[in-house]
Amino acid sequence: MYRGVVDKEIALAGITRRDRVLNVGCGAAPFTGLLVARKTGARVLCVERDDEVAAHAERSVAGQSLGGAVEVLVGDAMAGVPEFDVAVVALQATPKLEVLRTLAKCSGPEARLVVRDSAKWCQDMYDRLPPGLTPRASVYHHMGALHSSVLYYSSDIRRFCEEGVGLG
Ligand SMILES: C[S@@+](CC[C@H](N)C(=O)[O-])C[C@H]1O[C@@H](n2cnc3c(N)ncnc32)[C@H](O)[C@@H]1O
Repeated sequence: MYRGVVDKEIALAGITRRDRVLNVGCGAAPFTGLLVARKTGARVLCVERDDEVAAHAERSVAGQSLGGAVEVLVGDAMAGVPEFDVAVVALQATPKLEVLRTLAKCSGPEARLVVRDSAKWCQDMYDRLPPGLTPRASVYHHMGALHSSVLYYSSDIRRFCEEGVGLG
């Protein structure tokens, strides 16, 4: 299920092997991080705030022969993350705006943030993206709850948080 989604996200953010990629909210089976590493050759750091879930994720990663290209970090992305070039943010990551604010603080202005967004019918179940924050580009999935992935630059988020304005 994640293959097509990740292919579109790789194209959306132009991820290459030179990028340091962060996957925020990797879950127990970190398909996104594993697929990004396999498909692009990039190093991926998977961040997961639930320590039991993160332990499962570490076992899943250890079972793959990726030569250390994928690592798991236990922690809440809202509290801070290592510097990165591209972040892929899970649909279930919360609270969205606080996570995005931290990601923007922990990266250069041109870092790319790929953020998954929910379908209208289930927007009460997931933390919505701020309506005033206009993405640079989007790709559509139309797969149940997963509606699309949108692209921001870190500088867009900083500007939105500091001045309360989007780009549109
Ligand atoms: C259900 S997983 C989905 C990942 C999916 N398997 C994939 O490969 O993209 C979403 C995870 O995000 C984690 N999460 C939510 N908010 C987070 C945050 N602020 N920082 C780190 N992890 C977070 C949750 O604990 C949950 O395990």
